[in-house]
Amino acid sequence: MHNASEFYYPEHPEMKEDFTINQDYHKYKKDHHATWKFLYERQSKLLEGRACNAYMDALKHLDFSHERIPNFDDFSDKLMKATGWQVVAVPGLIPDYTFFKHLSERKFPVTNWIRSQHQLDYLQEPDIFHDFFGHVPLLANPVFADYMHAYGVGGVRAMDLGGERYLKFLARLYWFTVEFGLMIDDGNLRIYGAGIVSSKGESVYCLDSEVPHRIYFDIKRIMRTEYVIDRFQENYFVIHDFKELFNETKQDFEPLYHEVEDLGDIAMGEKLTTDMKI
Ligand code: PHE
Ligand code: CO
Repeated sequence: MHNASEFYYPEHPEMKEDFTINQDYHKYKKDHHATWKFLYERQSKLLEGRACNAYMDALKHLDFSHERIPNFDDFSDKLMKATGWQVVAVPGLIPDYTFFKHLSERKFPVTNWIRSQHQLDYLQEPDIFHDFFGHVPLLANPVFADYMHAYGVGGVRAMDLGGERYLKFLARLYWFTVEFGLMIDDGNLRIYGAGIVSSKGESVYCLDSEVPHRIYFDIKRIMRTEYVIDRFQENYFVIHDFKELFNETKQDFEPLYHEVEDLGDIAMGEKLTTDMKI
């Protein structure tokens, strides 16, 4: 999840200028590993037949640890070989510019702490389970890995062009793809968004509930659509595959930002006659 503006930035005595810290792997206690194991086993079971093939395949290929919290250095080596990505530790949410900059350098920031036993089902801020279990697997997918990189480059560029002004459009794109994206896999609706795969409730709701509105990917529609961070989504956007996502976001966003700014926001859950429904 990335909603820096909603939270205070962390203070950490050993934080470097780029907001990274050491993972301090030796500091995890038995209970922390037990929380990881519980969440890992619960979600990986739940996601069978729900998460997209690319995600499930990556979980297997990267050889995720069931028993223990993953060590970032080990996974950076594996990812580096697969797609040139690395995982870096951060103490929590980081400023937008820093976040974009990391992605543009193919570094994915992951929070190093894990939720407490009382927050197993829901947590508003991203912890290591969300960041790692949710985001890291797809970084091993070559097309998705390139999309994340392009997003980072696009974020740095958007800030150079307009400071904060265009960030809400990019944040919505991230939200409705990287965090809450759905896709069609062999004719079936499947999950690829990290905010869903790491959530027990939403990984069922997003596919099974009749309440939310599922719409084919439409970049302008996404950039105009409002979202909330503390409830299940009312809109999901569906892609055919990561190539489509990558191709649709290749275009120059500068004119697009102006166009969507003029068109105005669309409220969460609002239906448009032009929506291509699933
Ligand atoms: N094409 C975008 C731009 O011109 C960059 C981008 C790519 C942004 C992919 C997000 C995702 O800024
Ligand atoms: Co996330």
